[in-house]
Amino acid sequence: MKRLILMVFLFSTSVLADDQQRIEQSRHLAMELGQKLSSELMVAMKAEGAVHAISVCNERAPEIAAGLSQNNNARVGRTALRVRNPNNAPTGEHKAVMQYFQARLAKEPNTVPEVLFTASNGEQHYMRAIPMQPQCAACHGSNIAPEVRNAIAQKYPNDQATGFEVGDLRGSFLIRWLAE
Ligand code: HEC
Repeated sequence: MKRLILMVFLFSTSVLADDQQRIEQSRHLAMELGQKLSSELMVAMKAEGAVHAISVCNERAPEIAAGLSQNNNARVGRTALRVRNPNNAPTGEHKAVMQYFQARLAKEPNTVPEVLFTASNGEQHYMRAIPMQPQCAACHGSNIAPEVRNAIAQKYPNDQATGFEVGDLRGSFLIRWLAE
């Protein structure tokens, strides 16, 4: 049922001007988080390898997200159907959106689906799919080096975020706009 409502929203031709502005703000924040993370990750991987980059991800991902959140009266972060950090676990609504993203990516692999919707708590939530890319495989793929696997297991004993293939839905950006 929830999914049906989302689809109707997505394909309706008249998106309100306010919503359009919110989508653009959200898209901007999601891109900023994505770009900051991937540039720090690339530097760390090149300089000291994947094991060290795990601690960069572990410390910097929440810090970067918190900085963006504070400056924008929003909570900026990431979630996934299978999470590494339990703090990133999705709600039922976020799961439904990501199941829709999965179906959409399966049909149209080159799209990056996004959604803005009103969550059941009244907040506006924006989600944007994060497809798995080749440079993510060292830490999220199906053939992870044993020392990397160990380092992940130490910090994240309940890690679910491995075994992804390029093009799979790895997760989603999630921007939660605080009610005004
Ligand atoms: C060096 C290892 C490493 C690489 C490479 C890496 N990640 Fe991660 N990823 C992590 C760690 C560690 C976390 C947990 C971060 C935290 O504690 O918030 C994480 C968390 C995530 C999350 C948040 C949801 C969750 O599972 O907790 C997403 C989404 C994600 N990664 C996507 C990607 C994508 C897409 C790429 C490639 C562009 C990538 N990662 C590359 C280590 C890595």
